[in-house]
Amino acid sequence: MFPSSSYLLAVVLLLVPTAVISYELLPRSTGFGAEVDAFNITLFLESHGVELDGDIAGVSDEARSTVDALKRALHDHRFLHFPLQDGLTWQDQLMFVQLFGKPFDESLHPNRIPWEGEKDPRVAIFSNDKKYGLVGVGIEGFHSDGNVVEIPHQANFLYCEQTVKGAATLLAPLEEVRSALPNSLLHNVDFSSSHVENLEKPLAHHHPASGRPTMFFGLGTLSGLYKKDDKSLTQEETDVITSQIEAAIEKVGPYRHEWTAGSLLVMDNLALVHKASSETQVTTDPSEIRIMRRVTLAAKRPLRRRDESFEKYPHRCDDSTCLVSLARHVEVEPDHSFPGVEEGNELCRGYLHQTASLASLSSKGLAKMATEIVEELRLPHFLNARKFGTGFSTIRWGSATTEDEWNDAYPWDDVSGQPNDCDGPGSEPCVFIGPKGRWFDFACNPKRAVGTTPGPEITWGEVREMFDIYSLCQVSVDFFGTGGGGKEEL
Ligand SMILES: *[C@@H]1O[C@H](CO)[C@@H](O)[C@H](O)[C@H]1NC(C)=O
Repeated sequence: MFPSSSYLLAVVLLLVPTAVISYELLPRSTGFGAEVDAFNITLFLESHGVELDGDIAGVSDEARSTVDALKRALHDHRFLHFPLQDGLTWQDQLMFVQLFGKPFDESLHPNRIPWEGEKDPRVAIFSNDKKYGLVGVGIEGFHSDGNVVEIPHQANFLYCEQTVKGAATLLAPLEEVRSALPNSLLHNVDFSSSHVENLEKPLAHHHPASGRPTMFFGLGTLSGLYKKDDKSLTQEETDVITSQIEAAIEKVGPYRHEWTAGSLLVMDNLALVHKASSETQVTTDPSEIRIMRRVTLAAKRPLRRRDESFEKYPHRCDDSTCLVSLARHVEVEPDHSFPGVEEGNELCRGYLHQTASLASLSSKGLAKMATEIVEELRLPHFLNARKFGTGFSTIRWGSATTEDEWNDAYPWDDVSGQPNDCDGPGSEPCVFIGPKGRWFDFACNPKRAVGTTPGPEITWGEVREMFDIYSLCQVSVDFFGTGGGGKEEL
């Protein structure tokens, strides 16, 4: 299905303008992966004045929306190849990853042998010569990274400084691998790594950000003993599973990425398994040195099986659409880092269905259903909305083509004078629904500036207090319990 030699690119599908650079996304015709053309990472960081050091509060809106678009592209295509990044420094590589989220500190790996020349615990260096980096990494068998930690990484940013003949990374797409396997083989099975005990992960689950069916495992020497229905399987039973997975990967046909110096490959770690080819370790010619740098993007939540008891989610449905609150399912950390709008859309897909999103309250009927949910929970919820203009404002719903029946007369909270961009013009482009189903403008993420509270201070009934904002999702009834569409899930 995916011939590894084929490298045909589809015609230009998307031209994404930013203030400074425009790049092209060229999906590979073989079903997964895309080339990101004319995107100079060093230039991107420079031109947006990105000086991060872990704090992305000062990053411009353009830079942020470019990164959001790249993140969605990564979830759609599963890997992105940025060629021609010659001279990308490890500091810039690390900075680039920080725009996407928190880089993983490799020293947290329980069984990691640190390499003495390491510059930062978040930047791992691999080589075929131990003078230049860790050797023998990634050749064990097909795997996702992070199988020895509780929360496996979201993505790997792998950069090639220099390479040797034939050195390649093989990638296999997990949705296709999973559909080549019988459900009975995967049902309620947990994978465990040979390197750690009691850190099982669901062998089959749904991608937490895209909602697509996927898997998690490590093969070869990374494979441990599996469990089914919480009972340990024997070595023979485990071998049956792993050999069928191997066969499914062969059937699907991995993509072989031959490295050239200056290439950066960004892999969706939860949508793909990968493996380094044996050539990556060859040292026949002492002048041939391979040097790879990896930064991984940490994830926030452990992998989980989708909770199919949909009745537990606060929800309302009409004939075609359900609105569903995630307030009882997604915990907010004590530091009030509640999920913003972009992450809320991911959570809706991960928890409910790949077609779900935050709610677009395009009709009064939907707004009434949403009001009932937020009043029942007494918690504010983000909508899939962007507000344009100050004062008298127009809303554009998440999918730009969604028309609404409000004629710009939205149910803003007039008591508090919404919409009011209370931190200055354009400061609150997103929208949440609060007390009595009234709408409020707000930042699209928790506020982090000094002197502001992360969440909004609102009066609900008698009390005025700060609230975290939760995710209100929208999903077709066909995929939410009543339609039975959820029943095919594992
Ligand atoms: C990318 O941008 C940097 C900084 O402006 C520049 O030095 C470098 O030559 C550019 N690389 C390419 C391939 O254009």
